[in-house]
Amino acid sequence: MSSVFVVDRSGQEEIITIEPGETLMQAISNSGMPDMLALCGGVCACATCHVYIDAAPESVMSGMDEDEDVLLGGVLSRQENSRLCCQIRLTEAYDGLRVTIAPEE
Ligand code: FES
Repeated sequence: MSSVFVVDRSGQEEIITIEPGETLMQAISNSGMPDMLALCGGVCACATCHVYIDAAPESVMSGMDEDEDVLLGGVLSRQENSRLCCQIRLTEAYDGLRVTIAPEE
């Protein structure tokens, strides 16, 4: 069983179990964390699933595609480690991933 660590906007950390094949957005939403709005449902159109990648095995992180990069380009709170978590498809190799949910715009 694989787990990821997610810090919400209040600074509270939760450990959530992931199912290989789901996206990180789905895993966080399914855990019931209220800060994950994901208003577009995961089609890379809203940026309300913005997270900061705090720690991840580099070998498993997929690159950001152009659509995600363009959408994040309009986000004021973007940082070097920003990602839209609906675009991260999980495998068991993501075990131990740490992310922080970005502030609401
Ligand atoms: S859920 Fe809308 S961009 Fe990720």
